[in-house]
Amino acid sequence: MSNPMTDIAALSGWLTDFRHELHRFPELSNQEFATTARLRAALEKHQIRILPLDLATGLVVELGGQQPGPLVVLRADIDALPIDEKSGVPFSSEHPGVMHACGHDFHSASALGAAILLKAQEAELPGRVRILFQPAEETGQGAPAVIAAGALDGATAIFGIHNDPALPVGVMGSKAGALTAGVDRFRIDITGTGSHAARPHEGNDPVVIAGQLITTLQTLISRNVPSDENAVLSITQVHSGSTWNVIPDSAWLEGTVRTFSQTVREQIEQRLRDVLSGLGTAFNAQIALDWQPGPPSVVNSETWVDLALETGRQSGFDARRIAANPIGEDFAFYQQHLPGAFIMIGSGGPYALHHPQFRVDDAALFPTSQWLANLAVQALKKAAE
Ligand code: NI
Repeated sequence: MSNPMTDIAALSGWLTDFRHELHRFPELSNQEFATTARLRAALEKHQIRILPLDLATGLVVELGGQQPGPLVVLRADIDALPIDEKSGVPFSSEHPGVMHACGHDFHSASALGAAILLKAQEAELPGRVRILFQPAEETGQGAPAVIAAGALDGATAIFGIHNDPALPVGVMGSKAGALTAGVDRFRIDITGTGSHAARPHEGNDPVVIAGQLITTLQTLISRNVPSDENAVLSITQVHSGSTWNVIPDSAWLEGTVRTFSQTVREQIEQRLRDVLSGLGTAFNAQIALDWQPGPPSVVNSETWVDLALETGRQSGFDARRIAANPIGEDFAFYQQHLPGAFIMIGSGGPYALHHPQFRVDDAALFPTSQWLANLAVQALKKAAE
């Protein structure tokens, strides 16, 4: 006879080991072949149904279906980052220059745990639960690929998680409305005429134009965004010139815009174009903009956030309302198709996401699996109302 308590302890220990293994062998976006194989082997071992979707990496599984009812979706991401690990944990990355510095190993292992727990009650599930092990979150390409493969077809609601080292273990947080930022990237190329440093009147100095541009762009936030809205514009690279006595003929800058509403997002892009066009005319230079839109803001449904946090409390979490966070998340693409909620899970580390010393407290793992399984069941009941 198996003892259920021993089974739970054994499953928790096994999941922790599984997470450490994913951590040791991290893979970059769209290259998660070994990660997918590890997940596939674990899922098959537990006889969990893998859907035959056309995905190069990543997996979608489904549980339930013996009872009629709705379909709800849980999503975890599986990819790592191009960062050299300095965490010092004994299961540190064995792939130089690649690291699970965003805790997607934690997300995958939590979702795997939820799948195993749901499998144990599959016959009684009042509907179906799909779990997405999504590739390429870091590049924003994964969610659109999973959607195109049909993973959301027939679903009523979707839930996603991200660990948050700023929250202690045992705490979860979310909010209705915009939770993460819309993330856009831009590059500006200034092409003027170079000259001798002593004869600037014979050219039009791209360095001076770049200087003007950097200060002017900050007014897009301070003078265009209403005081009750938030936005960030950061210029993160400036390049021009190669020596001390020559005025170069070009300069380029790169940066990012973070916004929490589509209106503000579109407004900043338009104002950026206006300012560049005006400066180009004023300085008689060519200024080109390459605007690369990333994922929009994660916008949570009130109903599903309430359910997720309430289920969190029932599962022993301190479930809180938190402020919006200007990170980017490609979970937002799913919410363009169906409502859902994205929840931050306390992972209690001293280092921020994407830091080379980032680490996750193992104690956060199994409670997250238990809550996710619980949430899936409660969401099926709610969706059937
Ligand atoms: Ni992440």
